[in-house]
Amino acid sequence: MSMPVATGALPIQTIKLPAPVPVTTTRFRTPKKNIPQTKKERDALLGYIREFLAREPLVPPMPLDELRVHAEKIIAATGYDPIYLHYTAVLLNNEMWRESLAAIPFERRLLLMPKCLRVESKCPAPFDEFGLLCKQCGLCTIQDFQNEAEALGYAVLVAEGSAIVMSLIQTGQIEAIVGISCLPVLERTFPYVEAAAIPAVAVPLLQDDCIDTTVDIDWVWEYLHLTSDDKTRRLNLNALKDEVATWFGAESLDALMGPAEGAAETIAREWLAGEGKRWRPFLTVAVHQAMRDDPEAAIPEAVKKLAVAVECFHKASLIHDDIEDEDLERYGRQTVPGAHGVAAALNAGDLLIGEGYRLIAEADLPAEARLAILKIAADGQRALCRGQGAELDWTRHPAPLSPKEVLEIFRLKTAPAFEVALALGAAAAGRLEDTHEALKAYSENLGIAYQIRDDMDDLGADAGANALESFRPSILLAEAFEKARGEDKKLLDSLWRRLTPAAATVDTIRGIAHATKADDSCLLLLERYKQAAINALKDVDNANLKGLLRRTLGKIFNDLEIKGWCSEFEAKNLPEPEPEPASAG
Ligand code: IPE
Ligand code: MG
Repeated sequence: MSMPVATGALPIQTIKLPAPVPVTTTRFRTPKKNIPQTKKERDALLGYIREFLAREPLVPPMPLDELRVHAEKIIAATGYDPIYLHYTAVLLNNEMWRESLAAIPFERRLLLMPKCLRVESKCPAPFDEFGLLCKQCGLCTIQDFQNEAEALGYAVLVAEGSAIVMSLIQTGQIEAIVGISCLPVLERTFPYVEAAAIPAVAVPLLQDDCIDTTVDIDWVWEYLHLTSDDKTRRLNLNALKDEVATWFGAESLDALMGPAEGAAETIAREWLAGEGKRWRPFLTVAVHQAMRDDPEAAIPEAVKKLAVAVECFHKASLIHDDIEDEDLERYGRQTVPGAHGVAAALNAGDLLIGEGYRLIAEADLPAEARLAILKIAADGQRALCRGQGAELDWTRHPAPLSPKEVLEIFRLKTAPAFEVALALGAAAAGRLEDTHEALKAYSENLGIAYQIRDDMDDLGADAGANALESFRPSILLAEAFEKARGEDKKLLDSLWRRLTPAAATVDTIRGIAHATKADDSCLLLLERYKQAAINALKDVDNANLKGLLRRTLGKIFNDLEIKGWCSEFEAKNLPEPEPEPASAG
């Protein structure tokens, strides 16, 4: 995919630009100091940013810290007042997304406007729960933008509420946003839009005093009409995840692998078809689709086989893990060793590993891709066993571990399966070589974050009482041990040495973890590893892949729970106080 764009040499077609709508609000306004006040200055800065990106192509989504570094470079190089840093970052982010936005059909885009664009004292429009219902009175620019955008096929909202926008994004109803907003709201929304990795351009309001605001109209106009011949579209991750889940129905598996025959195959197949979030096979398929020429094309049978192979390896590792940890329950039901005994479980796990390699062998791919895949799968298998081995070694000489030692075990035991999943997708797309390093770094951090969260879930309030049935190295308990004092420390020490049965003391342990703020430390660690996973994408130059992996993090860690964005809007729209109940009698 080629990258952004210098003025004068746009690879993107902008369809005819109608004459800008005149600004109808011409009151005297306090100038906004952190936005250049003349159109000439604003256009010059934008032009410079476009040249900058033509020289140094950058791929979105880009975290705020990184964006700031580039914005600082631009400010330094242009001699603009550093007060425009924030504004520069917004324009830079817009221009990075330009090409992706252009590729998304109008009907999948949202135009989001703030209601402060209206003339507040005269606006006749009412509000409903989705925002302002424009009466087309002609006093402000809202109606012109709305009419034009709707004619193109956009969804249009005049709202500051975040929930509706995020739900439109999450349900896949919109795939890009053209927004108009003040800088403070943009700052607040940035993390969510960045996490959604959705192409989003924002035209900053020229004032941020929340009333009768104005905006650079022809910029809005240009972004609204941006289009391209590029057929690359964002992947609908929800639909893809649902599709992958259907492959694990018993019948689909029979069709792909042949019917299960005999006791061992029946146990293995039932376990494979049973419960599971299917993240790993999803990653394989998503990476493949993101990097192929036509991401919309049907998923090849070979990739389906690789995805099922990845899940076979994963499910085998869970059986073996449950044997090793003597766990009788998983997903709230019996484990394979719990239901069938250790010997049959061991055998079913072995069988699933064999099935994984068989599926790889059967995948219709160029010989060299298949060879690369074989090597990755074998390396992943070995890495995982070494990680399990480190944990099992501790089991034979149990003693307190430091948080660092626990994280190292996580890195060894949980990250490999993610790396295999991602790398197989890349190899199938013939793109392993230029992405493998980044995928490794990403999966290492993703895997550690995933295990930290799993660890915290095990001790969370919702976890069953037997979550600690067999004590194993836990980041929460390593943090708690490091911080606890006195009797608490003694108790944790004897837990770590497996002298006290953990299950009997779950509530006490939760209490200590809370009192020592070990839970907060773990949350911080989780954030740090998620951030590191994002940073690992820094040098990925395939925009589809980068966006996919960024959005996947949000999806796995459910990051997008939010409230209001515009404080002025919230303040004015506090719910009416409940009427006093009428006194009886
Ligand atoms: C379980 O993985 C083992 C860990 C690495 C925490 P998952 O929680 O992803 O298990 P499934 O895929 O839903 O079965
Ligand atoms: Mg284990």
